[in-house]
Amino acid sequence: MTAPFILKGKVLSFTGNPFQDDPGAAVRLDEALVVDQGRIVAIGTLSEMRAASPSAGIEDHGDHVLMAGFVDAHAHYPQTAIIASWGKRLIDWLDSYTFPEEMRFADPAYAARIAARYLDLTAAAGTTTVCSYCTIHPASVEAFFAQAKARGQRVVAGKTCMDRNAPKGLRDNAQSAYDDSLALLERWHGRDRLSYAITPRFSPTSTPQQLDALGALWAEHPDCLMQTHLSEQTDEIAWVKELFPNARDYLETYEAHGLLGENGLYGHAIHLNPRERDRLREVGAAVIHCPTSNTFIGSGLFDMAGLISQGHRVGLATDTGGGSSFSMLRSMAAAYEIGQLRGTALHPAQLLWLATVGSARSLRMQDQIGNLAVGAEADIIALDLASTPAIAQRSAEAEDLWEAIFPTIMMGDDRAIAQVWINGQPGSFSGTEND
Ligand code: GUN
Ligand code: ZN
Repeated sequence: MTAPFILKGKVLSFTGNPFQDDPGAAVRLDEALVVDQGRIVAIGTLSEMRAASPSAGIEDHGDHVLMAGFVDAHAHYPQTAIIASWGKRLIDWLDSYTFPEEMRFADPAYAARIAARYLDLTAAAGTTTVCSYCTIHPASVEAFFAQAKARGQRVVAGKTCMDRNAPKGLRDNAQSAYDDSLALLERWHGRDRLSYAITPRFSPTSTPQQLDALGALWAEHPDCLMQTHLSEQTDEIAWVKELFPNARDYLETYEAHGLLGENGLYGHAIHLNPRERDRLREVGAAVIHCPTSNTFIGSGLFDMAGLISQGHRVGLATDTGGGSSFSMLRSMAAAYEIGQLRGTALHPAQLLWLATVGSARSLRMQDQIGNLAVGAEADIIALDLASTPAIAQRSAEAEDLWEAIFPTIMMGDDRAIAQVWINGQPGSFSGTEND
């Protein structure tokens, strides 16, 4: 571990919830913070930090905003190499692009290469925690956790389970899904900064027997997260109705098999009926908004304002590679645009909160990550608010912090991420492999 160090810049932390309080007043700005042994140990003025840690070196980040690294609450690292694949909607996109690519993860060397590439690309984009699906191959989970462990990174991941409606070579069965998931969970969950998520892909690719088996596993390990997809496209919902004729709705296909709970993460959740909305809120489950995916695959417009005002826990995510970007900045921009199409302009503080605190809350990790606070883990980014000429000329006109930040949210990419610290370690991530 490195010696303590002081980061000086515009230290931005959330003191309130910008969906509940005046959004602009939900943050505070400080001058500096101290990092020691992978944690933030003090935040305040530079002179306070010097007094708190007299031997610490000082890194001056000037006008850059120092804030918590982004938390991507739903991604598929195995889809890295097929991001931006043209012309399909959910089911034929899965069949045409996704399943053939996921087949390649039977090769552990390929899985390791893509896991490294994915973690480099996302870190370069300012993402310090991801919650990712893997493939049905246990080796794909091993590869991802091993790469994250080597980086000291906090990630959540799980073996994607499918025992029907997927090609041969991408199907397990109820028993092997249970056995493999359990073995991976026992090996990785709680080790270093790694957490296991029980991962049925979605109801159409699991038999009721497999859903039962994974529901039983979750009941035996209720502290694990469980991630799946819910009500993404209307064709998908119609298919679920055919496959589960006795279920009242899509959510009930999970609920009836023990797969609805407060540690559940339900990706997309666009076309929900009132019962589904009520049940998700009653159990305290998290719904994950995947805006670049929802526009790219043509899925629909998530009801952010309605779900937040009903009291749902909402996280934000890329859904790489159905999502068309690795960047949470791009996800915030798409969330803003979808909000506009639904009549609500999300405040920049709300967008940043969703990409950090909101996603961390959905992963039940808000005490460790997602905000700069004393005692939190030191996953930090330095945001350059003038990273391109187009952004710089706009932010130069800004009259307050939010007007200075919003152009980077809307137009920024990995050039806006001037520096990333993961677990207190500075990194430089090119996104290109060094093998
Ligand atoms: N539904 C089931 N699997 C997937 C997937 O890989 N991506 C998206 N966007 N939706 C899904
Ligand atoms: Zn997904």
